Amino acid sequence: MKIAIIGTGHVGLISGVCFAELGNEVICIDNDEDKILNLKKDKLPIFEPGLQELLNKNKSRLTFTTSINEGIQDVGVIFICVGTPPKPSGDADLSTIEKVTNQIAEFMHDYKLVVDKSTVPVRTGRRVKQLMQKKVKQGLSFDVASNPEFLREGAAIYDFMHPDRIVIGVETERAKKILTELYEPIKSPMLITDIESAELIKHASNSFLATKISFINAVAKICEQAGANIEQVAQGIGLDHRIGPEFLQAGIGFGGFCFPKDLRAFKKIAEKLGCEFPLLHEVEEINESMKKLFVTKVEEALWNLNNKTIGILGLSFKPDTEDMRYAPSIDIINMFQKEGAKIRAYDPQAMSIAKRIFKNIEYCKDVYEVADGADCLCIITEWKEFKEMNLEKIKSLLKSPIIMDGRNIFEKEKMLKLGFTYQGIGK
Ligand code: UDX
Repeated sequence: MKIAIIGTGHVGLISGVCFAELGNEVICIDNDEDKILNLKKDKLPIFEPGLQELLNKNKSRLTFTTSINEGIQDVGVIFICVGTPPKPSGDADLSTIEKVTNQIAEFMHDYKLVVDKSTVPVRTGRRVKQLMQKKVKQGLSFDVASNPEFLREGAAIYDFMHPDRIVIGVETERAKKILTELYEPIKSPMLITDIESAELIKHASNSFLATKISFINAVAKICEQAGANIEQVAQGIGLDHRIGPEFLQAGIGFGGFCFPKDLRAFKKIAEKLGCEFPLLHEVEEINESMKKLFVTKVEEALWNLNNKTIGILGLSFKPDTEDMRYAPSIDIINMFQKEGAKIRAYDPQAMSIAKRIFKNIEYCKDVYEVADGADCLCIITEWKEFKEMNLEKIKSLLKSPIIMDGRNIFEKEKMLKLGFTYQGIGK
């Protein structure tokens, strides 16, 4: 099939490259000229494991352009993958969706299936359809569909190719047939729904996962007070197949561009529909409290933070990505700096992005440089190389052997045996 993808962010670019890998001809459109210029030279704007190789492999089936007019003429299917960032109110900003819908309607000369892949509040598809009906030239037909994307950063290609489910929200047989054919090579369960349900599935899934994380974090706090171990508790809970073991990893909380933003947007759209959802507010509150609790623990260990050197391991919101959007590291570093602490940090991928956010921290070349002379070492992201660091060497480099483990990457007993003052979350 010939398809167009509008928006070359994480979802758009990965979907584009993966659709090309499945044998389709894909044209990726973005209004950012630099991005498109770089993509034409095979340079990726994001770090995602395996993406460069897949892009190189499928070059012959991929083209890049800044023009929606040029990009959509030869294709039957158009995926909208533009950003829906949060407004200060928490509502999703859908102005880019509106803008590209207008352009599609203006430039199309034959039937198009317009599929929304961006995460949007329920009833956005309805809006897109109304706008198209107003704007397309007389006699032209089109369909609107919703096809939410569930990929995780860092595992995005695997997730695209092996999703737990493919959700397709459609209103017509024609749209259903096109999307079913397009996804035919992917052997995962396919759920065909109406458009509103497909849109809701995305917001509800992300909010449910975030709820699971906040739930386990709230239990972790109880574990700390009660002398229990959250890892054993999570294991015991997760063995119940109705609950499942995933997303029960206690820590300093979730970040990234999806959970925090989607929770707020879901809360807002629920409110607008007259269905307040205070549970989601609580989920956010617990998430915020985990960062504060972590800082308090460091404060307790070091007494005064003023002029103390705190080593930060990990800046990205999770491992295997350079993404720092809504990363817990940002709030935690801000809190430390407010107390007068000096920050020294290392991250395997996120350093160049971090440099745009924090000018006043010392960036180090590896974990050992961070530890050298620091008063305490904080694990903020669970990168593999932190799990594998030489702990004897770290101990000899630290001013005092204190490790605060915000992601529970180490076993408490082992760390105490090695002579560290060690605290994880919920144990
Ligand atoms: C998420 C969803 O998983 C994905 O389906 C959706 O399409 C986009 O949002 P992503 O943001 O890439 O994906 O990251 P994910 O791996 O889900 O982790 C989100 C955050 O939750 C991270 O900050 C992670 O550290 C945290 N997390 C995750 C926990 O704190 N504990 C857990 O048990 C799992």
